[in-house]
Amino acid sequence: MTRAMWDPEKYGEFAAERSRPFFDLVERVGIVPRSVVDLGCGPATLTATLLDRWPGARITGVDSSPEMVAAALACAVPGRLEIELADLRTWRPAGPVDLVVSNAALQWVPEHRSLLPELASFLAPGGVLAFQVPGNFTAPSHTVLDELCESPRWRDRLGGRNRRKPASAEPEEYLKDLDGCGLSVEAWETTYLHVLRGDDPVVEWLRGTALRPVLAALGPDAEAFCAELAPRLRRAYPARSYGTVLPYRRIFAIGRALGHSGRHK
Ligand SMILES: C[S@@+](CC[C@H](N)C(=O)[O-])C[C@H]1O[C@@H](n2cnc3c(N)ncnc32)[C@H](O)[C@@H]1O
Repeated sequence: MTRAMWDPEKYGEFAAERSRPFFDLVERVGIVPRSVVDLGCGPATLTATLLDRWPGARITGVDSSPEMVAAALACAVPGRLEIELADLRTWRPAGPVDLVVSNAALQWVPEHRSLLPELASFLAPGGVLAFQVPGNFTAPSHTVLDELCESPRWRDRLGGRNRRKPASAEPEEYLKDLDGCGLSVEAWETTYLHVLRGDDPVVEWLRGTALRPVLAALGPDAEAFCAELAPRLRRAYPARSYGTVLPYRRIFAIGRALGHSGRHK
């Protein structure tokens, strides 16, 4: 059986670690929006936290994965939180939006920098575009995975262009991009030191994200691949008495449209 690209249950593991950047992002938004769009909302567990944060907001979560959308629909609240199955590259709002947010999703759209003018055009006066993407694609978690994909046993199926790979840009590049969209910009980066528990926790972490395209491509051979990956990652991220430390760099960008929404915090 072919595996789905996304698995909401697997992604939900390490929820505390994965949710922290979302909260750090929305904390900096600086407005009280009446309309919010979350692009690449996944299972919408984080999107749904915005219901309490902004009780007057109508929120739309958009995701292109049928598995994620099926999970997200459990969080839907009629009139307050709608979920749409759509590709963020082509989705358009019905009208101007106060907040366009995207957490840990744009890296799956390699050309996402070229989409930023379009996303900025969704904003109402004084509206905010806020996103977070991983900035760790040169970290061992990715280079070790890449090396194994390119090894003789796997490269025919996983090497080079055969594999969908996430990608992001540097904070300064997003800063320039958003400035070019006429937005007032704040960009920064944070490296979180996640302390993970359990056996081979970095493999388990990757199973929820970067390993998804690999597992989907390999089908029944997926576990043989993971068995080769595990010792390599153990060497890169040794277990300590207090757990396995996974340093994780994340990049944040916020662009504010000119004009006054009248709803600044
Ligand atoms: C790592 S998950 C993040 C989910 C959620 N934002 C969160 O922080 O929990 C990435 C999500 O982006 C979605 N995604 C990837 N490419 C997409 C696209 N082109 N259009 C819409 N969603 C996309 C995936 O389906 C997945 O649910």
